Amino acid sequence: MTASTRPVALITGASRGIGRAIALRLAPTHDLILVARDLERLQRLTEECAVIGERVRSIALDVTDFAAVADALRDVQVDVLINNAGVAHLKPFLETTPEEWHHQVDVNVHALYHVTRALLPGMMSRGVGHVCIIGSTAGRNTFVGGTCYVGTKHFVMGFAESLMLEVRDAGVGVSVITPGSVATDLFPEGTNTTWMLEPENVADAVYFAVTTPQHMLVHRLEVRPLSPKRPRPGA
Ligand SMILES: NC(=O)c1ccc[n+]([C@@H]2O[C@H](COP(=O)([O-])OP(=O)(O)OC[C@H]3O[C@@H](n4cnc5c(N)ncnc54)[C@H](OP(=O)(O)O)[C@@H]3O)[C@@H](O)[C@H]2O)c1
Repeated sequence: MTASTRPVALITGASRGIGRAIALRLAPTHDLILVARDLERLQRLTEECAVIGERVRSIALDVTDFAAVADALRDVQVDVLINNAGVAHLKPFLETTPEEWHHQVDVNVHALYHVTRALLPGMMSRGVGHVCIIGSTAGRNTFVGGTCYVGTKHFVMGFAESLMLEVRDAGVGVSVITPGSVATDLFPEGTNTTWMLEPENVADAVYFAVTTPQHMLVHRLEVRPLSPKRPRPGA
């Protein structure tokens, strides 16, 4: 097999929702490494992406496990890292259990460090690369029931901008995409999602951010449903 000249993108949280849509959006132009815990879903998506793309592989990985991430990604080099994996337990502060609190901080905050720490050195030494993070409008808004989730997404904004300033002169870009509500499994069953963005809408924004000319950086990109009162056409 000849070496690929296509950029390689690694996507965390690729097994469903926004990450899955990003994989399908990038597959025609990027070689892909798909990461999540659910291997069965990853394998199905790998097959789907291979039909419209070229090289696709998956790694079943819990991104909250620093040692496992470092081990699995030791010899992996990517041009684009999409830090997308995230969880939400939206409930009042006093009803949030310690497990729910730590789970959100582990996935939304600590995993960002684990995966970026593993892949950034390769980008820095090659003088090219892009770290794209899926933040949220919750990264600059607040709402009742969001103490932890909103807190983690505010962290993402600070992390992304600080990292951007730190690595841009080495040729590495950092972007944060901040969607409003998106119809995915992040919301409990029974939630009215008819007015929300579709995962593919966010994937389009990610594609735009990671395919600009090398000298141009889209650092923040906010995508919203037009109106919470209007269902999407066809929804
Ligand atoms: N939906 C929204 O309204 C919305 C709005 C703004 C921002 N976002 C952000 O978008 C991102 C994706 O969310 P989504 O809406 O697509 O949610 P989703 O449908 O629930 O998907 C979450 C993904 O994260 C993965 N994941 C969770 N814990 C993981 C772990 N420990 N290790 C590896 N992968 C893990 C899941 O895969 P496995 O379960 O297979 O591991 C899954 O692929 C999140 O960062 C979220 O905060 C969502």
